[in-house]
Amino acid sequence: MSIKFIDQIDIKGKRVLGRFDFNVPIKEGEIQDDSRIKAALDTIKYILDNGGKLIACSHLGKPKGKRVDELSLKPVARRLKELLGKDVKMANDCIGDQVLSMVNELKEGEILLLENLRFHKGETENDPEFSKELAKLADVYVNDAFGVVHRKHASVVGICDYVDIVCGGFLIKKEVEYLSNYLAKPEHPFVLIAGGAKVSTKLGVLNNLLDRVDMILIGGAMANTFRKAQGYPIGSSIYEKDLLDEALKIINKAKEKGVAFYLPVDYVMGKDINDQVPLGVFPYQNVDPDGKIFDTGPATHALYSEVLREAKTVVWNGPMGAFENPTFSQGSFGIAQSVAAVSGTTIVGGGDTDNLIHKCKLQDKITFISTGGGSFLEFLEGKQLPGLKALGLYD
Ligand code: 3PG
Repeated sequence: MSIKFIDQIDIKGKRVLGRFDFNVPIKEGEIQDDSRIKAALDTIKYILDNGGKLIACSHLGKPKGKRVDELSLKPVARRLKELLGKDVKMANDCIGDQVLSMVNELKEGEILLLENLRFHKGETENDPEFSKELAKLADVYVNDAFGVVHRKHASVVGICDYVDIVCGGFLIKKEVEYLSNYLAKPEHPFVLIAGGAKVSTKLGVLNNLLDRVDMILIGGAMANTFRKAQGYPIGSSIYEKDLLDEALKIINKAKEKGVAFYLPVDYVMGKDINDQVPLGVFPYQNVDPDGKIFDTGPATHALYSEVLREAKTVVWNGPMGAFENPTFSQGSFGIAQSVAAVSGTTIVGGGDTDNLIHKCKLQDKITFISTGGGSFLEFLEGKQLPGLKALGLYD
């Protein structure tokens, strides 16, 4: 691995362009969860404390190449100021003469936050002209945005062609080390928990990890596709019709490889996802034909907890049900408690799962919570990620 990290670079007096993942949930100008900002603090502080002039940049949401006021990074500048206890200047744009002169006025140890990169379509198009404009602001480029390393975007990939010194930050280092080490040499039993709505988004992970795990626990609406494929009723619940064959293939592949493959044995069903009172708990062979599955039931939780009791490594992505509604949150909250109680290594990733863990206030009981959503999944799929490739990880 020939990737360099920020502590191997002389940054004193240099303009350091830092790509962070400040894509945080914001409601009416208020940040709802600042974990991604906090996750970047080690790198930010290191740069400022070592005499770098930090130009921080990020995307927020999907403004599709246009300026959208609600997607301004101004709330992030305010939060950073509070967290760092020092002034954070905010630019009105991320490229252009005005930004360049703000950058050139920066003194050692000062920080300037650029406006949302995706206000320019050149960002998501990985446009070389946009990359060159960004590169004009930097002597050193540091990527600490693990959440976007699966995106072939200008500030993640293209820019690396135009800045002489490129490196990774401490968050990228931690993510890559944790995910690579534990996946390469997991302690057994190794349990994968895959939840969420769709089998299609987890196919790559399931196929890649089938060779390494001992047990797989399935939850969320993706379990419906597996049960439907086996010929069991799922009422009027959602499932992926075109993935029934693939679902059976995965079950058979698990059997061939001796991987224990668990599906929910009971469900909490409702008429509507916003129901305040559920239809009830139903065993998987005998569901309410008009009802919809919105959560796993207590028997599933007991079974999954039993499996997790022995686990030495756990990787978890995706909730067990529609946990945003308290009526259907017990399965997800239950599995979160069981994962937190595991004595071995626990690795959790994905926006919903991260949110769930924080809702249960169990974040301190998990060995490692990845800041990646899509990037976490693609890493688990064994793919080479463009943002890490651009830093030289696979050379
Ligand atoms: C995320 O939220 O997973 C990252 O910030 C990437 O965002 P994106 O899916 O909009 O590229």
